[in-house]
Amino acid sequence: MARATTSFTCSECGHEAARWMGRCPGCSAWNTLVEEVRAAAPPARAGRAAPARPVRLADVSAPAEVRLRTGLGELDRVLGGGFVAGSIVLLGGSPGIGKSTLTGMALGNLAAAGRRTLYVTGEESAAQVRLRAERLAGGALDVPALAETDLETVVATLDAERPELCVIDSVQTLHAADLTGAAGSVGQVREVADRLTRLAKARGIAVVLVGHVTKDGALAGPRVLEHLVDCVLQFEGERERTYRTLRALKNRFGSTSEVGVFEMRQGGLVEVADASARFVGEATRAPGSVVLAAMEGSRPLLVEVQALVSPSELVPPRRIANGIDRNRLALVLAVLGRHAGVGVGGADVFVNVAGGVRVDEPGADLAVALAVAGAARGVALGGGPEAPPVGCFGEIGLTGELRTVGHPDRRLAEARKFGLTPVIAPTGSGPGAAEAPTLRAALRAALPRGAVRAKAA
Ligand SMILES: Nc1ncnc2c1ncn2[C@@H]1O[C@H](COP(=O)(O)OP(=O)(O)OP(=O)(O)O)[C@@H](O)[C@H]1O
Ligand SMILES: [Mg+2]
Repeated sequence: MARATTSFTCSECGHEAARWMGRCPGCSAWNTLVEEVRAAAPPARAGRAAPARPVRLADVSAPAEVRLRTGLGELDRVLGGGFVAGSIVLLGGSPGIGKSTLTGMALGNLAAAGRRTLYVTGEESAAQVRLRAERLAGGALDVPALAETDLETVVATLDAERPELCVIDSVQTLHAADLTGAAGSVGQVREVADRLTRLAKARGIAVVLVGHVTKDGALAGPRVLEHLVDCVLQFEGERERTYRTLRALKNRFGSTSEVGVFEMRQGGLVEVADASARFVGEATRAPGSVVLAAMEGSRPLLVEVQALVSPSELVPPRRIANGIDRNRLALVLAVLGRHAGVGVGGADVFVNVAGGVRVDEPGADLAVALAVAGAARGVALGGGPEAPPVGCFGEIGLTGELRTVGHPDRRLAEARKFGLTPVIAPTGSGPGAAEAPTLRAALRAALPRGAVRAKAA
């Protein structure tokens, strides 16, 4: 019988080579050859293959989508209503963020509800996993665990056990014996994901692949993994803080705009259903602080945006953004200086979304601008620490105008619910908003009299 062979393919130009080389002979790129297993070619058929018959989509039989609800409301919501049978989910996150805790709790809840589960650990021993499970609420101790790194053994076990949900922790530790590369190499990760995907689809097993995130935030391993799987979840937060957010970067079975908020505690991850109340309660109301009425998917979320402006010795000065896009910060600073008379050219500027939350929407612009303006002037927005916190949302245009953003009604309702006054928003946002057509007008509404210069130079 013909045997499977391995070969090396350049991920840039597709050049094939029989052995690994540091530099691709085809395109001269470095480190792009990826090892692949090739199934033995089928015996050559006489003539051309017979054409297949396409089927009208309406005539294709499609079984009803089966969802596995984990009982972790925030996780189920981000997934679009729970895990879909036969789907592959990639869960990424930096070291120690709580990936094993989240998946362990999901499995535990399902096991407690009598569902078949399997936890494959390649990173920790079964004893280590047990120690974590002892801390966790729910049925985490009832989950069957397999400490294994050999792909063949894992695939065979999955086929025999047929769990409804299986967690592979992590995809980078499994090793396919027919490839020579070390576990975690691009070729290995791709092979592991490919084999598991085929098995999951064939047997209707929902599989979670836990993946590590590199220093710059990308999922380690090939980007192609993200194309292969049905859903890519990112678990983030600052390790020193207790809040964690879970968001879907890709979801074939649901929206990608939902965000789940958790808090890491001794007993595991606790869902934070009332995140707005927490974040507003913790807002400092000091100079450089403002509350942003953000939308996270279909849900409004109030978060505190903080800024610090301090004289700098550096050229160019520092621009540090935590929780918002750095380019967005640069744009806001430019518009502040050019159209609103708040120049911070020679100063270091730090902007931070409190709680370790990340806000990825243009509606955050106004909050960044108000926080920076307050910090630069050294004045608290609104009535200061004794008064209700000031809220805001809105996108800033390059000419200094404020532009409307999605769901102003929901943002305003959430802001009202938690007593923010005023809520500064672009014109047309609706009743209850302190509407401002421009950034300059917004500053006038937010800062105490005299803190806004009459006219930009
Ligand atoms: N007793 C405890 N009380 C509160 N939090 C704890 C406790 N023990 C561990 N943690 C938290 O759990 C985190 C580790 O969780 P977990 O092992 O699930 O992370 P991970 O993302 O799987 O990490 P790795 O990348 O190492 O696999 C720690 O960083 C810590 O924040
Ligand atoms: Mg882990």
